Amino acid sequence: MLTKTTTRTLNNSIRTAAFSKIAASRAQHTLPQLPYAYDALEPSISKEIMTLHHTKHHQTYVNGLNAAEESLTKLQSQEASPETIKAVISLQPALKFNGGGHINHSLFWKNLAPAGSEQTKLPAGSKFAQAVERDFGSLENLKKAVNTKTAAVQGSGWGWLVCRLLSVSLWS
Ligand SMILES: [Fe+2]
Repeated sequence: MLTKTTTRTLNNSIRTAAFSKIAASRAQHTLPQLPYAYDALEPSISKEIMTLHHTKHHQTYVNGLNAAEESLTKLQSQEASPETIKAVISLQPALKFNGGGHINHSLFWKNLAPAGSEQTKLPAGSKFAQAVERDFGSLENLKKAVNTKTAAVQGSGWGWLVCRLLSVSLWS
């Protein structure tokens, strides 16, 4: 009798084989353009840091994801065996880490704005502003809660602010 893990692994392998043709035509991930200039967020974030963070740090996730997916594509083209299955499973951390880093950074850039600009203020009277007030007390308290909650998370502390209907929750 197969264990749950073995059954799941075999099912994933079958699914993997079924999608191998799709994987073979997988496009390379690329570094997205920033929606503003590297110096747009000064003095809060310097041009140098933005350039480094975007062109080196984010690019490293993109490169790592492409390398992991290339390895996966090669494995998917091979005859299924316990060794190839183990190799596919061993790629999962790299796919998750680099894929997550790429997606998180792509969203992150779109959510930055110069300090004091309109984009950094809660729309007065909006349902979101009311929920933040009710659930955190103020925008400043929300910022503190985000920093506290995410400080210990791997990869410089990613967290997600999630709105569920009319309540706001913090996830890390
Ligand atoms: Fe980063």
